[in-house]
Amino acid sequence: MSTETLYFDRNENQYGPAPACFDALRNAGIAQMSFYSRDFMRNVKSPLSERLAADFGVEEKEILLGYGGEDLLKQTVHCFLGAGERIMIPSHSWWYYKTIADEVDGIKVEYPIVEAGDVYAYDVPAMLRLYDEHRPAVVLISSPNNPTGNVLSREDLLHVLEHMKDTVVVLDQAYWSYADQENDFIGELHARFPNLLVIRTFSKYYSLAGVRIGFAVLGTKLGTLERFSARYLGYHRLSEPVALAALESTEYYRGIAEKMEADKEMFRARLGDLPGFTVYRSWANFILVKIPETLMAPLKEYLTSRGLVVKFMNEELLHSHMRITLGTQEMNRVLADTILAYMEEHPSA
Ligand SMILES: Cc1ncc(COP(=O)(O)O)c(C=O)c1O
Repeated sequence: MSTETLYFDRNENQYGPAPACFDALRNAGIAQMSFYSRDFMRNVKSPLSERLAADFGVEEKEILLGYGGEDLLKQTVHCFLGAGERIMIPSHSWWYYKTIADEVDGIKVEYPIVEAGDVYAYDVPAMLRLYDEHRPAVVLISSPNNPTGNVLSREDLLHVLEHMKDTVVVLDQAYWSYADQENDFIGELHARFPNLLVIRTFSKYYSLAGVRIGFAVLGTKLGTLERFSARYLGYHRLSEPVALAALESTEYYRGIAEKMEADKEMFRARLGDLPGFTVYRSWANFILVKIPETLMAPLKEYLTSRGLVVKFMNEELLHSHMRITLGTQEMNRVLADTILAYMEEHPSA
């Protein structure tokens, strides 16, 4: 077994970006390094925002660029949520949502995501009920959701958006594209729901987390955020050509997504029947696995001592679970073998 540490803990994409992304960096010159962009003279932010606007069928000014979904989520919440106002957040979700709500002294209202066999699901009637009760200023929806891996179906999303027309709805799609690459739906949503903001990132599917680039498609009623997030000296001129190169590398990324789909099945087949284990279905680049609570500390110790770093959850609702970020196929096999070896060595665990 390799002696280097293998990371399965932060939802990074271990395959790395497409070769064209490295070429884009190699081809960067003095313009990208030494000068501010002059794209504003054409009334646009950059070739990247223009490309995204064309892809999604929206106006260029309706594409916001940012340093990843993290940056865009923070800007959105700081812009739209006032102190003492309510924000709806999924019960199981990325911890950062709560942090940004706290930063502006917002009141958090959690709405349920429920376990249904080997999948988690949004409880839509409960979401709508809580919305009517609390009248939040902002609603955060994450699909695919971290760490549960589930999605809100298109039908349910439309139903929810129809009901929530009087607030700012943020759809965080950081893990989009693994299971579904279709973008036309966003154009349709944009046309129908002027209060909707869709956030995406190049960090996950495109394996560019270190480059820190993401974008949002902004609803027509949310112009306040466009002004709030304006960057008069331009954006990051090195990351933009890299992101554009990624968008051109469709086949490379499809190949990775296919390997990940196969490895999700591999984990389900190999770990799913272990006593006390549930491998939940996932539409993202990670899987959530429920394990017996008594295994949490010893299995973590066993894996860590072998250089395998997995996220063992430590939250009120998820304290008997590990979240495995899919690595390369080779890494995933090492991890599955090591978990099975532990179970064989500890038959009464
Ligand atoms: C649900 C969710 N949204 C957004 C992000 C932000 O990622 P980034 O800032 O790299 O785009 C993450 C990162 O893990 C995430 O889990």
